[in-house]
Amino acid sequence: MKRIILLASGSGSNVENIITYFDKHEQVAVSAVLTNKNTAYVLERCKKLKVPALYFNKTAFLDTSVVFDFLIAQNPDLIVLAGFLWKIPQELVAAFPNKIVNIHPALLPKYGGKGMYGAKVHEAVKENGETETGITIHYVNENYDEGGIIHQAKTNISPHDTPKQIAEKVHALEYEHFPKVLEKILLKNG
Ligand code: GRF
Repeated sequence: MKRIILLASGSGSNVENIITYFDKHEQVAVSAVLTNKNTAYVLERCKKLKVPALYFNKTAFLDTSVVFDFLIAQNPDLIVLAGFLWKIPQELVAAFPNKIVNIHPALLPKYGGKGMYGAKVHEAVKENGETETGITIHYVNENYDEGGIIHQAKTNISPHDTPKQIAEKVHALEYEHFPKVLEKILLKNG
């Protein structure tokens, strides 16, 4: 069985979608969810879905090896960032080469980098009058949103779309593509 550990900071609708997709899957399972926010709605979702969820703070993540040691001990086949907002420390990137994957709600390299997250991305896309946007699923390296691109998918934007409507279109793409791409990565690696 291939095992995924998910990291999330917010609502966790992607987490729920991924857990549901792999529920009863014969080759892939979500073994745990980690969050850096103890009030994140993702914790409620995990409770409902009966998947173990753990909270860690900045000290545990950056100043001690608590999270690092946990991940090494768990030895997941893939660490998946699903709306996780902290930068991944270099030691973690080095310990899991090509095993950490992020989803970004825009077509990288556009609208990426520090500070480009959540609604800010969709507001910037709207502001610039883009006619299309989309999602980018990519490997994580030591710089925000710069690792190798695995998959992108696009959606059209009409001039009347609000940032909220753009976000909804992007979310729909995330739900459709993210679990399938994860499945493909895991099953391709043997
Ligand atoms: C998604 O749009 C994801 O691409 C981004 O953060 C959002 C998370 O949404 N990086 P949710 O927590 O999965 O609902």
